[in-house]
Amino acid sequence: MKRLVYSLVLFTSLGCKADNWHDPRMVYGFDNIEPSANLTWTSCFDNFTCSRLEVPLDYSNRSLGTTSIAFIKLASKNATVNSPSIVLVPGGPGASGVDLLLGQSSTTGQIFGEQYNVISFDPRGVNNSGPRLDCFSGSTEARLTFNRLHRTGATNISSTSLEEQYYSSSIYGEWCNDAAENQSPHGYYVTTPAVAHDLLTFVEAEAELAGQSPSDARLWCYGISYGTVIGTTFASMFPDRVGRMILDGVLDAEQYYDNDWRDNVDQMDETIEMFSSFCHSAGPETCSFWGPTPADITARMDCIIDQLQNHPVALSGVQSRNLPELVTYSDLKALFINATYAPLASFPDMADILHQLEHGNVSSLRGKFIGQDITSDARLVIQCADSYRRNRLTTIEEFRSYVEYTTSKSKYIGDIYPIFLETILCRSFRPQLPDSMVVQDPINGPQRPTSFPILFASNTIDPITPLVSARKMSSRFPGSILLLQEAVGKFINRNSLPFCRPRLHSYFDSGYISPKTTRTTASGRSQKVTKPTMTTPSTNAAGEPFNLKKIWTNSRYQLKVMATRDVEADTQYMDAFEVAGMPAIAVDKI
Ligand SMILES: *[C@@H]1O[C@H](CO)[C@@H](O)[C@H](O)[C@H]1NC(C)=O
Ligand SMILES: *[C@@H]1O[C@H](CO)[C@@H](O)[C@H](O)[C@H]1NC(C)=O
Ligand SMILES: *[C@@H]1O[C@H](CO)[C@@H](O)[C@H](O)[C@H]1NC(C)=O
Ligand SMILES: *[C@@H]1O[C@H](CO)[C@@H](O)[C@H](O)[C@H]1NC(C)=O
Ligand SMILES: *[C@@H]1O[C@H](CO)[C@@H](O)[C@H](O)[C@H]1NC(C)=O
Ligand SMILES: *[C@@H]1O[C@H](CO)[C@@H](O)[C@H](O)[C@H]1NC(C)=O
Ligand SMILES: *[C@@H]1O[C@H](CO)[C@@H](O)[C@H](O)[C@H]1NC(C)=O
Ligand SMILES: *[C@@H]1O[C@H](CO)[C@@H](O)[C@H](O)[C@H]1NC(C)=O
Repeated sequence: MKRLVYSLVLFTSLGCKADNWHDPRMVYGFDNIEPSANLTWTSCFDNFTCSRLEVPLDYSNRSLGTTSIAFIKLASKNATVNSPSIVLVPGGPGASGVDLLLGQSSTTGQIFGEQYNVISFDPRGVNNSGPRLDCFSGSTEARLTFNRLHRTGATNISSTSLEEQYYSSSIYGEWCNDAAENQSPHGYYVTTPAVAHDLLTFVEAEAELAGQSPSDARLWCYGISYGTVIGTTFASMFPDRVGRMILDGVLDAEQYYDNDWRDNVDQMDETIEMFSSFCHSAGPETCSFWGPTPADITARMDCIIDQLQNHPVALSGVQSRNLPELVTYSDLKALFINATYAPLASFPDMADILHQLEHGNVSSLRGKFIGQDITSDARLVIQCADSYRRNRLTTIEEFRSYVEYTTSKSKYIGDIYPIFLETILCRSFRPQLPDSMVVQDPINGPQRPTSFPILFASNTIDPITPLVSARKMSSRFPGSILLLQEAVGKFINRNSLPFCRPRLHSYFDSGYISPKTTRTTASGRSQKVTKPTMTTPSTNAAGEPFNLKKIWTNSRYQLKVMATRDVEADTQYMDAFEVAGMPAIAVDKI
């Protein structure tokens, strides 16, 4: 008895919900949740509720049956029945939104405001959502063997590597087709247009649950990376159902559906060049690969690349009793490509590794290339099903020309990117999907403006989802806004939480983006920024008031990233807004 009282006091004092502890229905996964066509939430993972929403496999042919989509919800601290929900749309393809929200739950209130419930989901084919496809049907040996045959290194590493990679790529599709035929007959029913429709089903089910009219329900969402393709697809299919939509780290949806990931290499070298400049400004105490000029740092880096290309390093393992290994040029390239995913966070480690390499120690590059082997098929299954019929990468000539393009565009990453991305593996997929499952038109945006303007967001240097893609997608959606931030990396939010927060809040709250009227100069003084004023239409096509102010703003912080290693607090910002259909103005001139 005493013990029980003690534990209750303990839970109360820690702020845990004691009743949850005893809740026999609390689940820590989705297996024990019954799929349902209406939205039924079950307590899960201590602080969340989970649901498996039953949706038709094919919205235009319901006789094919259903599958279920895993949703997870973090109720806002200030929730009311009418609190809007913001859906976090995960990247990939193949990334789990459930994992994303579980990992981000402590920051969502700060990012979006405490008055919004935050929801995420596993898109079709991913983790807790059906239908699932394991191309190698559990055979780890077949998967490993395929990886060894196909992943021979940077595509341009030898005079035969391109052919080896091209001809071996057919194996993958053959295994996937066989698994789809024999084990998961609807394994290819995971295309993005269907995912967009699932989101509509979700917001309608949510409205129904709240006693509102499903046909008026609108999607409020924040999409990142590939999640922006889900966003633009949704906005094209259901332009009147856009409530709020922020698309951050924008992927060119047209190139995505064509399996022609071309613009992605646009800013990769610029990013790697930023490494040299950041390292130099950080100083010798902080950047272990420091040099007297950025050009010196770049030259030493280039020298290491050349050396490893001509002289892979053998690690026999005799002394350490480790397995033998060969550290190659491709391992170094894998380091670069990995760094581009979170440049500011990875640069200090990259400096350490380059410093060790310069002193003849290659051990930290060991296994870097193999570490990027394909271990889960969700990404490629979605990507290849989506580009089925439009695939621009099927013949060896197309592959060669693609590799020539990427290598000519990016000295550092162009030759490793094709084998990293593996778009060539789509060429032997035979999804046999009906028209209703695949995107029919280019993503040109709807004929009329969306019911609420989309906010696209991009850093000025984004190594994976470059600014050029954000500009292009924004131009396809009349009335949309592009928020630019002078920073290096993917996602405006990760780099600059304190800065972006007010912008994101005001977009969600009122659709109004507050102008910043001062900027901090290099000397730390505040300076007034003059804002060009524009005429703004007062309502959109749906008759709603337009609150978005077409204003360019500009603010600058000092760059101390390498010096403090504090990515969130110190980064350089310059933001500007562009409105689709208006000429961009050079932000520097403001
Ligand atoms: C799948 O979901 C479970 C539970 O939600 C999680 O533990 C696991 O890490 C997820 N796996 C992947 C590959 O995302
Ligand atoms: C939701 O669906 C389940 C079965 O699919 C049903 O038992 C339940 O009554 C439904 N709830 C509502 C509120 O319609
Ligand atoms: C639930 O919330 C508590 C208190 O905010 C936190 O300590 C805990 O890590 C959270 N659990 C999960 C699974 O997020
Ligand atoms: C719907 O699917 C069933 C089962 O695969 C198929 O026989 C039927 O022809 C399909 N109907 C349409 C209209 O595509
Ligand atoms: C919750 O709402 C109340 C009343 O609207 C407000 O005063 C309070 O600051 C809100 N709390 C948070 C954490 O947003
Ligand atoms: C690599 O690509 C470049 C540029 O396309 C080309 O000139 C070179 O010959 C290629 N190298 C090999 C080994 O194929
Ligand atoms: C080589 O680098 C590794 C990894 O950073 C480190 O653990 C090791 O001590 C280094 N070896 C020498 C001889 O400096
Ligand atoms: C890639 O970088 C991340 C940190 O950004 C690190 O956690 C991960 O282990 C790296 N992966 C490889 C294969 O080096």
